[in-house]
Amino acid sequence: EAELYTEYKGVYLPKLTCSPQSLKYFEDFTFRPDDIIIATYPKSGTNWMQYMVSLITNDGDSTPVDTLSNSERAPWLELFQAIALNLEKRPSPRVLTTHMCYNMMPQSFFEAKPKVIYVMRNPKDVFTSYFHFHQIASFLVKPGSSSEFLHKFLDGKVSRGSWFDHIKSWLSADSNEQILYISYEELTADLKASVAKVAEFLEKRLDDEVMEKIAEKCLFNNMKENKVSNYSTTPIQFLDQTKTKFFRKGVVGDWKNLLAAEEAEHFDAVYTDKMKDVEYSFVWD
Ligand code: A3P
Repeated sequence: EAELYTEYKGVYLPKLTCSPQSLKYFEDFTFRPDDIIIATYPKSGTNWMQYMVSLITNDGDSTPVDTLSNSERAPWLELFQAIALNLEKRPSPRVLTTHMCYNMMPQSFFEAKPKVIYVMRNPKDVFTSYFHFHQIASFLVKPGSSSEFLHKFLDGKVSRGSWFDHIKSWLSADSNEQILYISYEELTADLKASVAKVAEFLEKRLDDEVMEKIAEKCLFNNMKENKVSNYSTTPIQFLDQTKTKFFRKGVVGDWKNLLAAEEAEHFDAVYTDKMKDVEYSFVWD
């Protein structure tokens, strides 16, 4: 861990993608009230939401959207790639992404109070997706067996820290913040209704057929085949998709194929304990 990760405010971050310069850039970033922030714990549907929001802000026109990757169009602010994008000069509304916890956001974020879309996913599926992702991403520590990775995940000793802390931080955000909480499971259950929900939150009026078109573009198979979104041009040294694809399965409940019954029980026990003070009713509960 020590070799690949740096500790930032008590959370592991990959050194390869979060350099001291990029963390400084993140801390000094000037937010605007009309920015659109996508906040997630990894593997919760980040890329899905980045693409959906980009299509919504472009009135469903995929031509400009598909000229840039998610990391250029809706960059992760704390990753080194963001520095070179001249975000200060971008017209509003800028679409920005972060995997940071709420309490790790910089001062300017709390002053500008931009809209935030927080995407969450059943943590057992997050764990499963993250386990597979760790086998292909060179900036992450090799996960070991699934039971080894399970202990690290439940202890928060993984890149981006504890899932529990992450979700609790965003759920306990100041009530003056404008945050839309939406789940991966909701997106899966009804993509068009989710497009409508996100568009309404962004105060974007779209015709029914435009929303239909956006939902279609956001289908798993369409994004998987889309060269701009499927990371096929990302160098193999970063992401080795010969083992498993970034667009892996895109389903709800794949944890059942990875966790043994007693591991799932252990997961649930930890979940119940760590989430006991959280009042939010999650779709997966
Ligand atoms: P799986 O590994 O379970 O397949 P993130 O973008 O936050 O890294 O999340 C990646 C996960 O979201 C992966 O989950 C990926 O397959 C899934 N995903 C991405 N786009 C999707 C889509 N259009 N429909 C369903 N799942 C999608």
